[in-house]
Amino acid sequence: MPATEPSHSKFDLTGKTALITGGGRGIGLQIALTLQRAGANIILSDADESRLPQAAQRFPVKPQVHQLDVTDAKAVRELAGRIVDCPDILVNNAGVSRAAPTRDTTDEDWRTVLSVNLDGVFYCSRTFGSLMAERGSGAIVNISSMCGEIVTRQQSVVTAYNASKAGVNMVTKTLACEWARSGVRVNAVAPGFVRSDMTDKYPKEVITAWSNQTPMGRFAEPEEIASAVQFLASDASSYMTGTILLVDGGYTCW
Ligand SMILES: NC(=O)c1ccc[n+]([C@@H]2O[C@H](COP(=O)([O-])OP(=O)(O)OC[C@H]3O[C@@H](n4cnc5c(N)ncnc54)[C@H](O)[C@@H]3O)[C@@H](O)[C@H]2O)c1
Repeated sequence: MPATEPSHSKFDLTGKTALITGGGRGIGLQIALTLQRAGANIILSDADESRLPQAAQRFPVKPQVHQLDVTDAKAVRELAGRIVDCPDILVNNAGVSRAAPTRDTTDEDWRTVLSVNLDGVFYCSRTFGSLMAERGSGAIVNISSMCGEIVTRQQSVVTAYNASKAGVNMVTKTLACEWARSGVRVNAVAPGFVRSDMTDKYPKEVITAWSNQTPMGRFAEPEEIASAVQFLASDASSYMTGTILLVDGGYTCW
């Protein structure tokens, strides 16, 4: 077989532009740092504007930053108007969780979780994915959760969160089919437990129980989610679309 380009170059994102939602901290910020290290130009967004200046300082090359609440469809469209070129990569990462038994879950909590985690993915994909499809290329990576497929043990009930992530998985598969012949791939990463502000709020005994219930015996670091996103955003996954890629330390095997 003739020598071709080294296989690792397929992971390279030089010349690509990546928009990350909810990138002001946690997994989203780490995804943005990882994609920049792979060569991408970064557009960092978050609903909480106050997080962006500090987050931006972490980047060797200053990213573009934009305040964006993904639940606001009009703001999503306006952002597309402000960004000169359509991004090559969209990472729908913004997400929230509210843990409470179902009978104590308020209408407001149900709506908040569904609107950030599911409406937000739909609004951003509709706007930016349509532009990508028109152009004929692009990759969307949705940050789902293993909770889109299974109910985790020993935890305050998170009906809204689980339903929202199951919805994200179906949006992923449906858009993957809709845009497959327009050159746009749509995939999701479904993390298990990850060390971040979202999980730090739980009591130590819950964190220990979740670690013990995970075959690998620990939480993921945000970098371990970000590298899976880089793979799905890059040509290394060129024949993958509609995939929900579990990154869960084996949790769903038991
Ligand atoms: N931490 C985990 O264990 C875990 C596991 C599986 C999946 N996830 C998913 O990973 C993603 C990131 O989670 P994280 O742990 O980094 O959480 P985090 O709370 O640390 O960060 C979430 C970010 O999203 C932003 N955000 C919230 N609402 C928004 C909105 N309406 N519009 C735009 N931005 C908004 C927040 O300001 C924050 O910066 C979420 O989708 C979450 O569901 C997390």
